[in-house]
Amino acid sequence: MKKCIFLSLVLFLGHLSFAQKFEQLAKTPPMGWNSWNKFGCNVSEKLLMEIADAMVSSGMKDAGYEYVVIDDCWQVDRDENGEIVVDKDRFPNGMKYLADYIHSKGLKFGIYSCAGTKTCQGRPGGRGYEFQDARTYARWGVDYLKYDWCNSSTQNPKASYEIMRDALYKAGRPIVFSLCEWGGSKPWEWAKNVGHLWRTTGDIVDRWDAMIGIFDLQKDLAKYAGPGHWNDPDMLEVGNGGMSAEEYKTHFSLWCMLASPLMAGNDLRKMDDATLQILTNKDLIAINQDSLGIQAFCMRDNGDYEIWVKPLNNKEKAVCLLNKGDETKTVEVNLLTLLKANNSYWSTDPYVMKNYVVRDLWEHQNLKLKADEYIIKVTMPPHSVKVYQFIKNQ
Ligand code: GAL
Repeated sequence: MKKCIFLSLVLFLGHLSFAQKFEQLAKTPPMGWNSWNKFGCNVSEKLLMEIADAMVSSGMKDAGYEYVVIDDCWQVDRDENGEIVVDKDRFPNGMKYLADYIHSKGLKFGIYSCAGTKTCQGRPGGRGYEFQDARTYARWGVDYLKYDWCNSSTQNPKASYEIMRDALYKAGRPIVFSLCEWGGSKPWEWAKNVGHLWRTTGDIVDRWDAMIGIFDLQKDLAKYAGPGHWNDPDMLEVGNGGMSAEEYKTHFSLWCMLASPLMAGNDLRKMDDATLQILTNKDLIAINQDSLGIQAFCMRDNGDYEIWVKPLNNKEKAVCLLNKGDETKTVEVNLLTLLKANNSYWSTDPYVMKNYVVRDLWEHQNLKLKADEYIIKVTMPPHSVKVYQFIKNQ
């Protein structure tokens, strides 16, 4: 009897010791690149190595991008021992070689699998192989795992993702765990202790209406995000050609305001200047990466015109004016009201305008305001944003 109690205790403690995610990861929204939006199944070792090179030479790495993630289609089978088999034609030197190469550039390596029996492209999924796959990923040097939800039949999402979380933890290598369940079971309500980020919607498409439609769905989710646990409205389409430069600026600005993961999805080897300027806007990246990790809240919704506010460290604030409409709009904004804009996260501290400068994060300059002038008039083209930061005077 005593032996039995002892054994149960050991098993229970054993389970507890890995029933958790890696806590020290993704303290700010993860930044990187993922192959899916531009390349779909057309992935290879050569492509990934060239992308890693381009991430460094383009200045993306200096701007903060870090993870190079292969999405679906790198895997073709399982061998007789259940080991996942890499597509040898496309990845002739295997995944460890690729991971080593990416690490040698000072970057991190990410991979994709699925909680179901097959991935969305019909490749072998992780169901039933979680612990084995996690050990394999750890051996290869994987730093980030995106875990999809296709072919999951009647599986319970929370339980399924918890198995992989535990498997990763047991394998011992810190790996950012990115849940791609598309929001169906409201992962923001249960995934905080399971993964570091969770998709909140279906797939983004490189079109204005699709992008803004996804953005609209984020409105009530701010309270679920924070350091180590982020809402993920999907990867960036900036530079893929389906939106105008103005629309891509808006897309990028909104993702920065939402404290969303910033996973570029374009061909980094062939970026035009406009794309690079958007993706490496350091002022915007700084608000995305702010250490408080607060997702912006919608302070005003006037239909096509919205105002979003993101509290930042040091009692600073970012404010985004958004013209979703198809017409140019001229709006009047009271900066003092924006500075004082409050939500449940914020204190009742008095805000005094003279303690701040107001910086336009796309013009990269401070507004020239006269003393006691709070109201500014702004003309906004269709589908555009203005992003300002209230920066404390020294
Ligand atoms: C979808 C996922 C996409 C991409 C694709 C690959 O389910 O949302 O981001 O990973 O599968 O097949």
